[in-house]
Amino acid sequence: MEYNKIQLGAILSFIFLVQNIQGWGEEGHAITCKIAQARLTEAAADAVKQLLPAYANNDLSSVCTWADRVKFSLRWTSALHFADTPPKLCNFQYARDCKDLNGVKDRCVVGAINNYTTQLLDYGKDTQHNLTQALLFLSHYMGDVHQPLHTGFTTDKGGNTIDVHWYTRKQNLHHVWDANIIETAEERFYDNNIDEYFKDIQKNITKTWSDEVADWEACSSDETTCPNVYASEGVKDACQYAYKDAPEDATLEDDYFLSRLPIISLRLAQGGVRLAATLNRIFQ
Ligand code: ADE
Ligand code: ZN
Ligand code: ZN
Repeated sequence: MEYNKIQLGAILSFIFLVQNIQGWGEEGHAITCKIAQARLTEAAADAVKQLLPAYANNDLSSVCTWADRVKFSLRWTSALHFADTPPKLCNFQYARDCKDLNGVKDRCVVGAINNYTTQLLDYGKDTQHNLTQALLFLSHYMGDVHQPLHTGFTTDKGGNTIDVHWYTRKQNLHHVWDANIIETAEERFYDNNIDEYFKDIQKNITKTWSDEVADWEACSSDETTCPNVYASEGVKDACQYAYKDAPEDATLEDDYFLSRLPIISLRLAQGGVRLAATLNRIFQ
């Protein structure tokens, strides 16, 4: 088949567009889910194994971006990937912020995490919910809520409308946080091997952060999951690190990369630890 220039241009812009509206990129989600699956109790590991589709081969990380792929066919789910707040307030308030563009309440990543957690509590009972889908949604959204620009500002769509340069390449700030920082880290420090980055984060969980992990896992009183906390931390990180020194047209390079990478590693770790803690509480 031959394409003329305009057709090719249209195809390339479509691919570019699709590539630009993912959650964490494929790699961020895979890391979060790998960390989580390795921390499951026997009961939770067993339930996850039962619920995963056969094609996943009992590997949760292989289906952690499924929710991004169904955004277009299941249109109502597209608002469930983020929870933006009014600009510069730097705090998250569920009643004010958890709604979609039409103002429908509870339609945001925090509401979605609560909802799919509740659905999964039906495991082992007669239920009308599709618990396989609930598991895949929960595993994905737990990653998203830890990406600081998924709790960004409504006015710039979590950095999607802020054009910057990532070193020499044109990008938007949101995509820098979804994918570029992780990719650059893998190229520069991990021999282009995502598994090496994953192992390094796991090592930090047992060493550098070992004193904090119990705090990450804990929710107040009788809650199974606490996404309000995760989103509140996220918007603080968005203000302190993501938006800071990254206005429209900025060129982001080593200074930005090296100071923000530790935040990304921490958020990937917290996302994985909390996904495991939530699943362990669900499938007791
Ligand atoms: N669309 C609007 N806000 C968004 C965000 N924070 N993340 C991803 N997509 C969005
Ligand atoms: Zn997403
Ligand atoms: Zn994203």
